[in-house]
Amino acid sequence: MRLLSGIQPSGELHIGNYLGAIQQWRELQFIHESLFCVVDLHAMTVPQDPTDLRRQTLTTSATLLACGIDPSRSIVFVQSHVAAHTELTWILTTIAKMAELERMTQYKDKAKVTRSVIPSLPASPELQRGESRDLGRSRDSANVGLFSYPILMAADILLYNAEVVPVGEDQVQHVELTRTLASRFNKRFGQTFLLPKPHLPKKTARVMGLDDPTKKMSKSAGANNYIALTDDEETIRKKISRAVTDSGKDIRVGSDKPALSNLLTIYSALTALPISDLETRYQGKGYAALKQDLAEVLVTALSPIREKIAELMADPVELQRILKTGASRARAIAEPMLAAVKERVGLITS
Ligand code: ADP
Ligand code: TRP
Repeated sequence: MRLLSGIQPSGELHIGNYLGAIQQWRELQFIHESLFCVVDLHAMTVPQDPTDLRRQTLTTSATLLACGIDPSRSIVFVQSHVAAHTELTWILTTIAKMAELERMTQYKDKAKVTRSVIPSLPASPELQRGESRDLGRSRDSANVGLFSYPILMAADILLYNAEVVPVGEDQVQHVELTRTLASRFNKRFGQTFLLPKPHLPKKTARVMGLDDPTKKMSKSAGANNYIALTDDEETIRKKISRAVTDSGKDIRVGSDKPALSNLLTIYSALTALPISDLETRYQGKGYAALKQDLAEVLVTALSPIREKIAELMADPVELQRILKTGASRARAIAEPMLAAVKERVGLITS
């Protein structure tokens, strides 16, 4: 079975991205024929400074390689280098329904759509069925790319007939839409696409914020919330020493211990030591001892990654060469698929 996943080049990658996604990709590349795509076109759905976008696309690619995605085994490429993604997106927009896209929670969140109903407008069929209708000023000003984002993601997946799609919880809805579009296309034009399945990471699916363990770690939540894969040793130690803890002294996981649960989860994921072993090891010891050791675990795990990123970024010619090779390998799969799709829908060849 073929595997495809994507990551946006929209900022520094952190240990949440690493433990929740990239670490798992590294393992899966030994099981499936794998493609990893740096989705620069998706990143453009929120305003990007062109210089930053260029830099982030290279850093994100370097980070994947530094984390052990092996370009001789997997195909690592930049989405915009393979034009078939945007071409298939257009074709899929003609079979996707507005209402399907309006239901996507990421779009609703990102467009900050207010759930208020404008009373002067006639009620939609959804509204009559008791669902709320999303209307509001923020929707009026959201760009169309944000709305059609899931169709581009569907094209990323379907172009390669990828059946295994590793994603976080928040992206499952998009993979389900991809299945809907694929089966609708197959029904209308004949069997063309395989139906993909989301592949969720087993443990550490959600790494929580260091300064707020009730919310997922996120680069948009400020530097004290996350540990970036490029943070140096001093920064790592400082951030862990400042991480919030729970009341009490016990070192254990539990719903009453969100901060400790998070720290122990990170520790366990990086060392492969079971959480129960860690609980025993730190019984009766203070939070400071746990934090000190966790900082060292992070330093040990992240230093080689940070150094490898720096090495790759210092040789942009070599990095671009790797991405060029990736793009041409991706095209070799995507282009025949796009040709078949065009033929099915009745577009003539030039
Ligand atoms: P962010 O939330 O920081 O903007 P992205 O949405 O770009 O990160 O996520 C890229 C990948 O990393 C996705 O597969 C996502 O599920 C995963 N990911 C992001 N944050 C976390 C987290 N805190 N814990 C686990 N996985 C995460
Ligand atoms: N939308 C995904 C995210 O934000 C990234 C993505 C783009 C993706 N295309 C994809 C993930 C295809 C899996 C498959 O995390």
